[in-house]
Amino acid sequence: YLPSKVKIVEVGPRDGLQNEKQFIDTAVKIELVDRLSAAGFPNVEAASFVSPKWVPQMADGTEVMRGIRRRPGTVYSALTPNLRGFEAALAAGIDEVVIFGAASEAFSQRNINCSIDESLVRFEPVAQAAKAAGIRLRGSISCALACPYQGETPIASAVNVAQRLLAMGCDEIDVADTIGTGTARRVYDVMRAVTEVVDPARVSGHFHDTYGQALANILAAMQAGITIFHSSVAGLGGCPYAKGATGNVATEDVLYMLHGMGIETGVDLDAVADIGHWISGQLGRKSSSRAGSALAAR
Ligand code: HMG
Ligand code: MG
Repeated sequence: YLPSKVKIVEVGPRDGLQNEKQFIDTAVKIELVDRLSAAGFPNVEAASFVSPKWVPQMADGTEVMRGIRRRPGTVYSALTPNLRGFEAALAAGIDEVVIFGAASEAFSQRNINCSIDESLVRFEPVAQAAKAAGIRLRGSISCALACPYQGETPIASAVNVAQRLLAMGCDEIDVADTIGTGTARRVYDVMRAVTEVVDPARVSGHFHDTYGQALANILAAMQAGITIFHSSVAGLGGCPYAKGATGNVATEDVLYMLHGMGIETGVDLDAVADIGHWISGQLGRKSSSRAGSALAAR
């Protein structure tokens, strides 16, 4: 089975930039979000309303949202770990908020400073507030396949967290291979297990290319019925609390594969490749997208 259409959630402005050591100007972040929405993405993860002590890079979410030109047809998302983050996101005009838990205890502690159960209790009022405000709600599961501190994550843990996020009212649930160690057969099995409890149309795959497995994993996830994927322009990012988690899968590579297979995304690959080179230049490096580099060399 293969879908004819896939939704790409571009996470570069958030999951990509959050990991950068030196503070990136708000104006650059705004230009990045605007260029991405203009390239046709249905969803851009634009900001995080988290503690600036934990992730200083994302401290200007409100200014970023105030500065962008909103494109009708693009949903702008942001991470909101608690009610305080939710209120700030709402005031900034975010369309979709993301509560983000983990399927591994150790990662939950390092990333959001509480256990999985505590995090779900903390997310409850955020979920209720989102529903009351009519805002889309997404639930993200980090380390759904493996954890940098605990090793392989049991499939039942990922399924359990997915079920609980769904019960809270999440419209979409992200299954994230935060450290990118997963391989295709296991991705297929995890996605099959999760989609036994969550409608496959509401499940997304968030893959990292740390071990070069991301495209194969996306293909395996599509065969398990998944039609939503996260990716990051130029492969920006990683995760500050997951050592060795190099890039998120590069958007250019994902688009090249999907379009080559005749799968529609509505996104302009050439435009994304240009954005990838531009933002990489801003960060003083080369794009880590293979497709992006090949397109530039033509
Ligand atoms: P804490 O220290 O346990 O809680 O942090 P706290 O309530 O004591 O807050 C600490 C300080 O932050 C306090 O300030 C709060 O006021 C402030 P102080 O009193 O010390 O001056 N604070 C806030 N400030 C602004 N906005 C807020 C907010 N909340 C508290 N919303 C907390 C707990 C969850 C807040 C913290 O651990 C945190 O912000 N964590 C976020 C970590 C993060 O963003 N990680 C990266 C995203 S996850 C990821 O990348 C994985 C994913 O992409 C999937 C994948 O790639 O696989 C999703
Ligand atoms: Mg990521």
